[in-house]
Parts: sequence; structure tokens; C-alpha cells
Amino acid sequence: MSQPHSIDQYELDRYLCILRDIDTNTVQFRWASDNLARLLCSAAVAKLPHRKITVKTPVGIGEGVELATNVMGVPIYRAGQALVQAFLGVVPQAAVGSLLIQRNEETAQPKLFYKKFPHPLPPNAIILDPMLATAGSAIMAVNILKEHGYASDSIYFLGVVASQEGFDRLSQHIPTAHITVAAVDPRLTAMKYIDPGLGDYGDRYFGT
Ligand code: PRP
Ligand code: URA
Repeated sequence: MSQPHSIDQYELDRYLCILRDIDTNTVQFRWASDNLARLLCSAAVAKLPHRKITVKTPVGIGEGVELATNVMGVPIYRAGQALVQAFLGVVPQAAVGSLLIQRNEETAQPKLFYKKFPHPLPPNAIILDPMLATAGSAIMAVNILKEHGYASDSIYFLGVVASQEGFDRLSQHIPTAHITVAAVDPRLTAMKYIDPGLGDYGDRYFGT
């Protein structure tokens, strides 16, 4: 039986391993990130409400599904930018909002610099950010979306690596089932980096 919404575990493990490897260069990192992002975006979008449909084929009637709602992707810049093209590859009709939130390098506290959302707002929102460390940035994004009228069960999160602590903290703000990540790592370092993680996603993706 075909399972169109399952993630190919082999592909996922392969790309994640390339991202984690300290010897991966910028070109390889981007390649693995873009491929992994496409798998994760499919898995995250599959959690949105869908409806069964029938379509006329050249021969008869076929059955399928389609997205039953519209959705806004909300990248947290800078690193979230790495997920936008993959997201639009899965949902080309999606709206895209923008949040520029940066962690203070010493305190790891998030600060909001810029936000912009489309009008009208779609009924569901997916926050796009590859790293969920303390979850401070993601929770700030959730709170901003709630201020704009989103209920917690209409908010989703798509990331690459989470810390267990960040995953648990975010689960107190949106449903656990709405969080899609490739891996949940056990620890945070004293500087609030995910351990083992993969380092600074934005620096590695953009080569800074
Ligand atoms: C990183 C990452 C998340 C945040 C995660 O961004 O992309 O936004 O840190 O950490 P948290 O869960 O503890 O909030 P950063 O602020 O370093 O900026 P960048 O995207 O420019 O790398
Ligand atoms: N941001 C990153 O890019 N990596 C981490 O491990 C934590 C925050």
C-alpha cells in the first residue's frame, strides 16, 4: 500500500548526517538542507486539514486528497529563510509572513526586529525555523501569531533539529502533534546550542 505522507527515513537520516558533519562545506550543507527541507515540509503540510476528492482522469474517476485550508508560512529570519523555497514547493499557493527574530549571543534571549504578515491572514500558520534550542524564538513567534488572532491549534512548527528542552517547552504552547522536526537531541550546551546538533544553521547555510 502506498503511504504518500510518510517521510523516507533513509533519505532523512542521510541528509541530517551531512548537516551534522563538521566537515560538510557550504555547498554540501545547502544541498542537504534543501533536500531535507522538502521531506519535512511534506510531512508538516500533511498534518493540515485535508479533504478527499475525486478527479476525472482521461479514462475514469480517480480518488485523491487536497488541502482543505490555506496556510501561511512564517520563516524566522535569518535561518528560517532556508526553508521557504521547500515550503512553497509543497504549497505553492501559500502566503508567506516574515519575522526577524535574533537571539542575543550572550544571553540567548530572542529579540524581535521586524514583522510583516499578508492580508487577509490564512486560517493556519506554520512557523519555519530549522533550530529549536531553548524555544525562546519559536514561542515569541507563537505569541505574535496569537496576538494576530491565531488559536494555538491553528499554529504549526517546522524545524530540522530540536533540543528535548525546546521541544517540551514549545509543546506547552501548541499541540505536540503540530511540531515536525527531523531529530530531537538530548542536551543544550552552556551557550544554549543544541548538543550534538549541527552548530549555527544560519552561518553554515549562508556561509558566514
Ligand atoms: C537561531 C535559530 C533560531 C534560534 C533558536 O537563530 O535559527 O531562530 O536561534 O534558538 P532558541 O530556540 O534558543 O530561540 P539566531 O537568532 O542565532 O539567528 P540566525 O537565524 O541569524 O542564525
Ligand atoms: N541556533 C543554531 O543555529 N544552532 C543552535 O544549536 C542553537 C541555535
